[in-house]
Amino acid sequence: MKLQKLLPQLIRAALDQDQQQVRRTAMSIVREIRAEEPAVAKEIAEAMAYGDISQRASRSVGINPTPSDSENHSPLALVQEPTPVPEPVLSPTERVALQEFLDERSHLQSLLSSGLEPSKSLLVTGPPGVGKTHLITHIASVLKLPLVTLDLSTAISSYLGRTGFNLRKVIDYGQSMPSVLFLDEFDAVAKRRDDPTDLGELKRIVNVLLLELDRWPAHSIIAAATNHPDLLDPAVWRRFDLVLEISLPGERERTDLLEMYLPEGLVPKDLVRAVASFTDGLSGAGIRQLCGKVVRKNLIHGERPESCLLSEVGLRCAESWGKATRERFCGCIKDALGDSVSSRQLGKWIGLSHTTVQRYLRD
Ligand SMILES: Nc1ncnc2c1ncn2[C@@H]1O[C@H](COP(=O)(O)OP(=O)(O)OP(=O)(O)O)[C@@H](O)[C@H]1O
Ligand SMILES: [Mg+2]
Repeated sequence: MKLQKLLPQLIRAALDQDQQQVRRTAMSIVREIRAEEPAVAKEIAEAMAYGDISQRASRSVGINPTPSDSENHSPLALVQEPTPVPEPVLSPTERVALQEFLDERSHLQSLLSSGLEPSKSLLVTGPPGVGKTHLITHIASVLKLPLVTLDLSTAISSYLGRTGFNLRKVIDYGQSMPSVLFLDEFDAVAKRRDDPTDLGELKRIVNVLLLELDRWPAHSIIAAATNHPDLLDPAVWRRFDLVLEISLPGERERTDLLEMYLPEGLVPKDLVRAVASFTDGLSGAGIRQLCGKVVRKNLIHGERPESCLLSEVGLRCAESWGKATRERFCGCIKDALGDSVSSRQLGKWIGLSHTTVQRYLRD
């Protein structure tokens, strides 16, 4: 076929996003021109090779191009290959609930072939930093599914009516292939209920969701996370197969988190356990941040790791301690560091005068 006929065919196929036809036509063009224009033929062949690579790569994370806003073309979702993350530290009850969900998902086929529907939707609630996002990333990783995270900042359009439409697009995308569709920081949508002008828009979103939660395909998972479950419509709550409430970590979990995020052997295990009892109120994210600071301080200033850990715990947590806890902490420091830390220094860590610290130590 002559080049003049092949070019319009190529353009039509490209506009129709018919990859197969694009490749076929491109091959015909190469055959047509390779004798006279070998350099151009080579360039087309190269482009096709890269096209193949990008298609393979995109096929592994999703069969369709990532959905984007129809007006400003910003992507509405972030698509990530399953990435291994450390197993989240959870309370025994939370762990059991998560394991049951994972077990159902890994027996998908046998459940379906027995006429049973596996759990498909999961709502994770809890205060900031307890690991909600981490947990969903972990689920996608264990089940080897791509994680499709809705980008709320783009999806919540300033143009009335487009939010529902954008959400619809992302939902279609999540349903089109085995994946975990993640509506992170879902309260960002829910919060808009405070704004009376947005009521119609919110209702639209909630309606889209209610419908989809009921008919979600078994091959995919829909997960949402929120810090403010109270702002969510109760009808939405009820539709989720599993609602996992993650609370701030208890002492046992805080010990595990400290052990997880402090490099092995940096601080004696006894001290880690003792310190965990002083970190009440810190979230998993808070503990990870604290451990990072300890490691950096030790590395940069050559400070003893024990002293870095105790000072960071004092600086971050002492504000919420009563007299008894402060006294106990002074004792703990004395045991771990002996006389290498002055009462003035110690006072700075826990927000007390050095005379008070001296009194505590005497007592
Ligand atoms: N339970 C946990 N187990 C292990 N790591 C945790 C846990 N909680 C928090 N982390 C660590 O802290 C980081 C931040 O936590 P994450 O973003 O998942 O919290 P979140 O609950 O989603 O917070 P937010 O409400 O602010 O979105 C995680 O990437 C992880 O490294
Ligand atoms: Mg989060």
